[in-house]
Amino acid sequence: MKVLLVNGSPRLNGNTRLALETIGNGVRNNRPDWAVEMIDIAEHKISGCIACGSCKKNGGSCVLDDETNDLVEQLAETDLVILGTPVYWWGVSAQLKLFIDKWFSRGKELGSMHKKLGLVAVGAAPVTDREYGLIEEQMKCICEYMGWDFVFSEAISASGAGDVSAQTDTMERLGRLYKML
Ligand SMILES: Cc1cc2nc3c(=O)[nH]c(=O)nc-3n(C[C@H](O)[C@H](O)[C@H](O)COP(=O)(O)O)c2cc1C
Repeated sequence: MKVLLVNGSPRLNGNTRLALETIGNGVRNNRPDWAVEMIDIAEHKISGCIACGSCKKNGGSCVLDDETNDLVEQLAETDLVILGTPVYWWGVSAQLKLFIDKWFSRGKELGSMHKKLGLVAVGAAPVTDREYGLIEEQMKCICEYMGWDFVFSEAISASGAGDVSAQTDTMERLGRLYKML
């Protein structure tokens, strides 16, 4: 089983990355035969989709001069993708959205592959606020369209970089998430 953690936060010392690392460590410690990888989206060059349609004529390659094709291939090779995003303006980060948009290049093919998707969204607002539900709904729609299984959704309230580390209950819950995968 291959697990791909996708960090959509530009803060490499931030809450989203820490939450994903904690989930990843839980998997590594309890499912030693599973392979776990992390992508920090902000560390890669991804240009916005320009809807040129070239990928639909050339077998699924993005023609822009960026890292889309390698990153989408990493997604294609994974069984479970866990998307982590800071909440930006009631939605996912622009960095994560750039990557999701590029799934379009191999959309049908990716949709023919059986995958699981999990979501971690970290915002400053309390988890009862609307943004977490909005992001969850978007991911559920994507899974429905792709025919993938939506396996979990974690909403976390934390603001300063790394603040989530002080939330003992949250960290323990994230460490146990491997049981749901
Ligand atoms: C541009 C921007 C927009 C934000 N919008 C929201 C928002 O709509 N709702 C919210 O709860 N938090 C919002 N936040 C706060 C971040 O989601 C929060 O600080 C989070 O911990 C960032 O995650 P990170 O530590 O992984 O970078 C925003 C932060 C930034 C920089």
